[in-house]
Amino acid sequence: MAEPIEIVLNGERRRLDGVSPAMTLLDWLRGPARLTGTKEGCAEGDCGACTVLVDQMPVNACLALVGQMHGRAILTVEGLRGAHPVQRALAESDGTQCGFCTPGIVMSAVAFACGGEPPTPELIHDALAGNLCRCTGYRPIVEAVARCAQSAEPLPPTPTTSIDTTSRTFDGPTILHAPRSLPELLKLRADHPEAWLLAGGTDLGVKISHDREVPGRIIHVAGVPELNGLVVHPDRIEIGAATTYQRLLPILAQHVNPFAEMIRRLGSRQIRAMGTMGGNLGTASPIGDTPPVLLALGATLHLASVRGRRAVGIDDFFLGYRRTAMAADEIIVSIDIQLPAADEIFHVDKVSKRRDQDISAVLGAYRLRVVDGVVHGARLAYGGMAAIPARAPHAEAALIGAPWTEATVERAAAALAEDFKPLGDWRASAGYRLAVAGNLLRRLFLRSTGVAVELDAL
Ligand SMILES: Cc1cc2nc3c(=O)[nH]c(=O)nc-3n(C[C@H](O)[C@H](O)[C@H](O)COP(=O)(O)OP(=O)(O)OC[C@H]3O[C@@H](n4cnc5c(N)ncnc54)[C@H](O)[C@@H]3O)c2cc1C
Ligand code: FES
Ligand code: FES
Repeated sequence: MAEPIEIVLNGERRRLDGVSPAMTLLDWLRGPARLTGTKEGCAEGDCGACTVLVDQMPVNACLALVGQMHGRAILTVEGLRGAHPVQRALAESDGTQCGFCTPGIVMSAVAFACGGEPPTPELIHDALAGNLCRCTGYRPIVEAVARCAQSAEPLPPTPTTSIDTTSRTFDGPTILHAPRSLPELLKLRADHPEAWLLAGGTDLGVKISHDREVPGRIIHVAGVPELNGLVVHPDRIEIGAATTYQRLLPILAQHVNPFAEMIRRLGSRQIRAMGTMGGNLGTASPIGDTPPVLLALGATLHLASVRGRRAVGIDDFFLGYRRTAMAADEIIVSIDIQLPAADEIFHVDKVSKRRDQDISAVLGAYRLRVVDGVVHGARLAYGGMAAIPARAPHAEAALIGAPWTEATVERAAAALAEDFKPLGDWRASAGYRLAVAGNLLRRLFLRSTGVAVELDAL
């Protein structure tokens, strides 16, 4: 017998009978649920018009599949019943004109205002970075959020505990399996190597929402406990592959802050609430943001299949354009990152056309050990410079054993031309990419000597 998807929608428990688990939450809300307050702008996670709260976190409903939502509490703009202080503040501040973006902005603002964060300009911008408005110019929206965030009450909790969230399979034109243990997941993977392995869906959701692809079968990994671990050791952190960026952020901020600073620029809050590092590695994009950082840190990936487990060093993971060392029946269980020692230099720089919610043109990640002014170890890694995220062996060789001086850094920057022959595209030309890669290395040197602290403020 088909198992129904069950959610709590605006405080009421709902069964989604006869709905394909691969339908987007947005299509379901605007279609069968007749809740048209949530809008569709881009259908690919960029504009935020479709923002709803899932377990009180802002999420792009255009990317979330209803099968992923089983057992979760969803709040749409209709659930606020037109009376929330954020809505009043937006109206009173002229924070809405044509109104198309407004429901999405309201939901992002409600999550922020009711979440208890201090309403600093920086945090308000971060909270709204995933919402585009083409009319207002943002100033009145930011002012409205600043005003009401002081007094907004926390959202009431919405219990979902009465929904059975043990392993399930949801049927429809697409079959979606939601296993709850690693052995179950590995068996499903072995039996269905053609199935889409879905974690947060911030990459795969675009294929469904925007490209209108219909997969035959999906295996949703997010509910498997072994993929959700987050363990801090003195010298390393073990990160479950399905841990969301949102959950990861405070841990990274505490133990390896340059990585956290970069993650704060990965997508928007909506993307970070769902997206995972396992998904970033699985996508294996040459411009994915976490792989160069993992290369610089020297991460180890733990893979598993019904045949057993193995560990693969990140240096051996990327084989070619969107090709990895993972076999068809394997999955990433966790990622171990080595924490830089107190006397090491570690930094990450992301360069993109727009500061927020944009894909990198170039991302540089650096881990260096300098003892008595001489470079003893160097791991330099870049995204956007080749068909795969990659280290820069010639530049590293130019550094190791040499004094940590401007002249050495110039030699290493020149050696980057031997390491990379980047492609040009609409994001950046080949020449720009190479120039930026060298400049990021120069900036690292200036930063290590204290000079670039002022540059960073620019
Ligand atoms: C608007 C928007 C902005 C974005 N901004 C950025 C950005 O700034 N930087 C950036 O790097 N990315 C960005 N992305 C891409 C995306 O958010 C990331 O790649 C994210 O990490 C994907 O994680 P996910 O869990 O959502 O992956 P999913 O979409 O669930 O899966 C992605 C791929 O990984 C595979 N996969 C997932 N989990 C596993 C696993 N455990 N083992 C093996 N394979 C697995 C899937 O099969 C699939 O092929 C953006 C996407 C959108 C829509
Ligand atoms: S419709 Fe634009 S982010 Fe979903
Ligand atoms: S008010 Fe028109 S898009 Fe924001």
